[in-house]
Amino acid sequence: MNQAIGVIDSGVGGLTVVHELMRQLPKESLIYLGDTLRCPYGPRSEGEIKTFTWELADFLLEKNIKLLVVACNTATAFTLEELKKHLSIPVIGVIKPGARAAVKFTKNSHIGVIGTEGTIRSNAYPRALKSISAYLRVNSLACPLFVPMVEQGVLSGTEAEQMVGETLLPMKEQNHIDTLILGCTHYPLIKDTIQKVIGSQVTVISSSEETAREVSTILEFYGQLYNGTISPAHRFYTTGEMGVFAKITEGIFKESAEYFQSVTIERAVLPY
Ligand code: DGL
Repeated sequence: MNQAIGVIDSGVGGLTVVHELMRQLPKESLIYLGDTLRCPYGPRSEGEIKTFTWELADFLLEKNIKLLVVACNTATAFTLEELKKHLSIPVIGVIKPGARAAVKFTKNSHIGVIGTEGTIRSNAYPRALKSISAYLRVNSLACPLFVPMVEQGVLSGTEAEQMVGETLLPMKEQNHIDTLILGCTHYPLIKDTIQKVIGSQVTVISSSEETAREVSTILEFYGQLYNGTISPAHRFYTTGEMGVFAKITEGIFKESAEYFQSVTIERAVLPY
């Protein structure tokens, strides 16, 4: 039976991971759930983030997924270990893959991390980075305005540049980092704007590629990669407004012709 890979996020951000999964694993079917209605998770309490993440996971578990990707740094920071402990399927988060990718790229061992208030508060990135190398220096910065901006579909232009410029000023002024981790899956959607603001001397890292590679390795290890001939069918669910969600997804997948034949978008009603 062709079981799908499940992917969860607080909104549209995890679609950047989905995009990479579709590229690296084109035979696999995906089921995505974005909790757009309750986005952002970043400013919420640990308890709320855990409860919401479990609700998302349960929704997808009912759809018989074979692996769960927590494509949200905030949810990964607070709930990954718990999910791993209690679920019988493999669970993959985005923080360790992002940290690994950054360590590959840095030359001066000085890495910047930007993310939601929750992710930065959790200290999950410095921990993950220092578990790879104790000699790394890490500068972290919370960017609470980026997720609402992305969820509204403001991805480039003067308004986006101004907001990104003002927020990243403290990191830019320190002028030490040579690698910047986008520690939130929403941020790759404004990567060009971030790169422009932070400067071309800094390598900007999104964890999507490395996360998709990890999914592929794990499925291969468990002999669960789909090898049949049926074309993949992807189902995207949002708890929120369908219009904006559909517009942003079309923007992300605009270059993949097959996307429009293989994806259906539906409203998810969670039991809360
Ligand atoms: N994409 C989520 C993350 O990676 C967004 C967080 C939020 O909802 O605030 O952290």
